[in-house]
Amino acid sequence: MSNTEYDKSFTHFWGIRRKIAQSLIPHGLKSGLKILDVLAGHGFYSYEITKIIKKGKIISIGLQNDVESFQRFKLSMKKRKQQKSLGLIDYRLMDITKIDFPENTFDFVINFLGLEDVNMTKGTKGVKDALKECCRVLKPTGTLQLTLCLEGDEPDQIIAKEITEAIGHQAIFHPKEFYIDELKRNNNRGN
Ligand SMILES: C[S@@+](CC[C@H](N)C(=O)[O-])C[C@H]1O[C@@H](n2cnc3c(N)ncnc32)[C@H](O)[C@@H]1O
Repeated sequence: MSNTEYDKSFTHFWGIRRKIAQSLIPHGLKSGLKILDVLAGHGFYSYEITKIIKKGKIISIGLQNDVESFQRFKLSMKKRKQQKSLGLIDYRLMDITKIDFPENTFDFVINFLGLEDVNMTKGTKGVKDALKECCRVLKPTGTLQLTLCLEGDEPDQIIAKEITEAIGHQAIFHPKEFYIDELKRNNNRGN
């Protein structure tokens, strides 16, 4: 796959962001709620969420390179006169392992991939810190939605592992049980 082909497929991602965003509607996603998108990257997933909530605000967080990518995304959408709902995104520079919001702030903490990146830069501890922070800022009645690459024996999971190994990505995927255990641990802390 060339870089251009990769960029194109990552941007569209077979419409999966849109499908996940829509799957949150039965879980109560609507305008007027406090929503945090973590590991927001360019803001593509946040953008899909804005199309559902239509008004209000979503706070998206990422690193410096992500803030810049989001600005470029906004500019490209402006040129195509499609930037309107991007105005609902309040993009902040923030590390997921140190979320600068008080506890019990958000009705939804949402995510489309990236914990694998945290694993590469900050290891398993970084992933655990990130999950702890997501649980801390979520209201007790809130919903946490994560999109994960999982380690496992399913055909797609085996292919994902082989591909990342082949391109030298050194991504480490955790099994589903790892995330369930961590989230339970954080719930038991009363978060
Ligand atoms: C797979 S991308 C996210 C994709 C994005 N959610 C989307 O919808 O396109 C992961 C992003 O996480 C960011 N990231 C990595 N480590 C981070 C950290 N500690 N805190 C915040 N963002 C981080 C990276 O810069 C990268 O843009």
